[in-house]
Amino acid sequence: MCGIFAYKGYQTNATELVFEGLKNLEYRGYDSWGIAWKKNQQIQVYKQVGKISEASSEPFAEQESTLAMSHSRWATHGAVTQNNAHPHFSSDQSIAVIHNGIIENYQEIRDRLGRSRFSTETDTEVIAELIAEYRKTMDFESAAKKACHEFEGRYAFIAMSQEDDMLIAARRGSPLILGVAAGEWFLASDIPAFLKHTREVNYLDDDQMVVIGEEARFIDLLSDMEIQKRTVTIDWTEEEAQKGDYDHFMLKEIMDQKETIMRAINQNEEEILKIAEYIKKARGVFLSGCGTAGKVCMASEYFFSIVANRHVNFAPASEFPIYHHFLIPESLLIVVSQSGETADVLEAMKVAKEKGAKVLSIVNVQGSSIARTSDFSLQINAGPEKAVASTKAATSQLSLLLLIAYAVAGRLEEGKKLLIETASMINDMLNPRFLKYIKEVADAINHSEHTYIIGKAANYPMALESAIKIQEVSYIHAEGFAAGELKHGPIALITPGTPCIALIAEDEVRQDILNSTMELKSRGAYIIGVSPNMHECFDHWIRVPDAGIASPIVNVIPIQLLAYHLSVLRGCNPDMPRNLAKSVTVK
Ligand code: AGP
Ligand code: GLU
Repeated sequence: MCGIFAYKGYQTNATELVFEGLKNLEYRGYDSWGIAWKKNQQIQVYKQVGKISEASSEPFAEQESTLAMSHSRWATHGAVTQNNAHPHFSSDQSIAVIHNGIIENYQEIRDRLGRSRFSTETDTEVIAELIAEYRKTMDFESAAKKACHEFEGRYAFIAMSQEDDMLIAARRGSPLILGVAAGEWFLASDIPAFLKHTREVNYLDDDQMVVIGEEARFIDLLSDMEIQKRTVTIDWTEEEAQKGDYDHFMLKEIMDQKETIMRAINQNEEEILKIAEYIKKARGVFLSGCGTAGKVCMASEYFFSIVANRHVNFAPASEFPIYHHFLIPESLLIVVSQSGETADVLEAMKVAKEKGAKVLSIVNVQGSSIARTSDFSLQINAGPEKAVASTKAATSQLSLLLLIAYAVAGRLEEGKKLLIETASMINDMLNPRFLKYIKEVADAINHSEHTYIIGKAANYPMALESAIKIQEVSYIHAEGFAAGELKHGPIALITPGTPCIALIAEDEVRQDILNSTMELKSRGAYIIGVSPNMHECFDHWIRVPDAGIASPIVNVIPIQLLAYHLSVLRGCNPDMPRNLAKSVTVK
């Protein structure tokens, strides 16, 4: 995971520039951070445990430098300590490196080079040490290339050399993007790091390297040939990537849902119809994603079944490889990912491609690895989502998948109409009175240590998603269940006062889920009903509009808000929950 950001150019405040830019990547990892810069031909390093957003820029003021790199860590190998924080030096101090990923054969490389040369617990240190070893007999570029051929696992790294006035970066499996301006280069894991400076970018692909000296040169590491890369102009604005007047990104992104559903369904109709045809012809359609995106896939199973009478199979991306027996060249894998960089999803795609199957991706980040390596790709256009908890991306993904289900059913216009109405209802729903009421509900359950959420049909996956939201930002133990499953075990957990949330739609299963809610009430549960209509068993009624089959899109929003308020009330930081990172680029 980790965020990496480096600069080479003419601005002489490179250290402050990367310090500020890295704050925009903090969502990727935030247990420790560090910066390396070159001053008077010497590499200097500063690193610290903690969050960069809470740090002062004072150590970097007046550090005249035009070459700097920075790292915000999500530890995989080695405890969260200042010593393990990046950048890492080679033992002779000649090479400094920042890295995102895991070098899986690091023990082997350590053994080969001699364990006494290493002073941290990280896998990353071998990158610096191996490049430094080869640099003794060859130039920096050749040394970095030779080292890359020996690394197993996933990496995006940036290296700096004491001897050379350049930056060298390479990737395999972890994201790396080059931002380009006149006489300036910005290398980062994600665009918000340099959005303030440029919107012109080159995406590096796996096994590619960029060498930035007087100019930037790209090298394909497999053929060892220099290659040209297409420059893409990004359509995100800097304002979109800021939280404006909101206290947290999570709240801002929840409120963005007033607009994002419309953006998600505003697709090229011809393309949607082409994809619908492909789904109809495919022999075996699979849906896969992780965490929230996985729950979106699961809800979409219901969408395809109910709307298009079409069976699709969901598996979490980390479990998907087990399905390889069922994959044939005529199969289609639909993957859903906000970041477009999730390692488990990339792995699922690899398995599908090995069987000759096609991949359709639904992503938010333009030019991301998943988007670029799939056969078809659709963007949800939700704008940057920076809070670790996925909110607006989830409802946009749901909307687009529902639209596709309608296209498969040959009723695209009907689907579009429903979703336009849903978008407008969400816009109305997110009014100050509604927001205040959700906060009151949060106040009422804030001290509970457990909460359970039930749903049925397409709202069942939303019960699971609601549990993720509450767990990850408030640390309250939350679990979602299929309403009908309660009586088969989970109901034993209910004691008087246990908060239980029921996600209810005005559909044919309404009476069933109300019966389950009554069963909870009879055991003393404190009921929060999310529903278009009141029911006598509710202690709190969160009134949502009746969106028909689109109800999961509407029902999950109040729970996002509830999770947000629970987090704030309990003194947590909703944008940066403990132990998590926004983009999970390790398996
Ligand atoms: C969402 O709130 C979570 N932080 C997490 O489950 C996330 O949805 C998951 O890691 C998948 O990420 P992606 O959409 O970027 O692939
Ligand atoms: N493996 C490296 C470390 O633990 C980088 C971690 C990451 O990319 O998340 O420091």
